[in-house]
Amino acid sequence: MKVVLINGSPRKNWNTAQMLESAAQGCRDAGAETSLYHIYDMDVKGCSSCFACKLLGGKSYGKCALNDALKPILEEIWQSDALIVGSPVYFADVTACTRALFERLWFSSLAYNRERMVISPKRLPVGVIFTTNAPQPGFHKALNELVTRTMTTFVGPTELIEANDTLQFDDYSKYDASMFDVEAKRRRREEVFPQDLKRAYELGRRLLEKKE
Ligand SMILES: Cc1cc2nc3c(=O)[nH]c(=O)nc-3n(C[C@H](O)[C@H](O)[C@H](O)COP(=O)(O)O)c2cc1C
Repeated sequence: MKVVLINGSPRKNWNTAQMLESAAQGCRDAGAETSLYHIYDMDVKGCSSCFACKLLGGKSYGKCALNDALKPILEEIWQSDALIVGSPVYFADVTACTRALFERLWFSSLAYNRERMVISPKRLPVGVIFTTNAPQPGFHKALNELVTRTMTTFVGPTELIEANDTLQFDDYSKYDASMFDVEAKRRRREEVFPQDLKRAYELGRRLLEKKE
C-alpha cells in the first residue's frame, strides 16, 4: 500500500507540513509506505488548456500531458492507494501550487462526454488538510465544499480536516501583527494544535480503510 502526500505550503516545517507529517505517520502505522512532496519549490504549472487529455485516440487521453515537475507526481498519485493534500488557505483559496495540482488532477479526469464525464484511471481515498488563521472549521465553507465535492467526483471519497487559528510566526513582537492576541495564539498552539496533529494522524491511519 502506498500513500502520496502533497505539501502545498511554501514552508516545509510549519503548520501544514506538521499536519502532513502526522498524517503520514498514521498511514505508516496502518502499514502503508508514504512519499511526501513539497511542491512549492518545484517547477509546477496549472492546466495549460492543451486538451491532450481529451484527444480521442491520443496517447495522453485521460492523463495530463504537461511536462513539468508535477507530471511524475500525478503519475505516482494514480499508481498509489491513497492521496493526502495539505494547503494553507490563502485568500479563501488553496495556495497557487496546490491549485495547479488540483487543475491538472481534476481536468485530466473529466471528459466532455454525455455518457461518461469521469475518466479517472481509478478511485482513491483522499484526505485534505487545510490550515487557516480563521478561528474555526468551516469559515471558508465554499472552498471546503468545492474541494470535497470535486475531489470526491474525480479522485475518490474525500475527508477534509482543518487546523485553525494557527501560529504564523515564532515571535509576534517582530511583525506588524497587532490584530492578534498573541497569548491566545500561544495557548492555542500548546493546547489545540496537538489535538489537530492527532486528528491528522487518525485521518492517515484510517484513510486506506476507505478504499473502494
Ligand atoms: C498570503 C496569505 C494569505 C492568507 N489568507 C488566509 C485566508 O484567506 N484565510 C485564513 O484563514 N488564513 C489565511 N492565511 C493564513 C494561513 O493560511 C495560515 O497561517 C496557515 O496555517 C499557514 O500555513 P503554514 O504554516 O503551513 O505556512 C494567509 C496567509 C498568507 C501568507
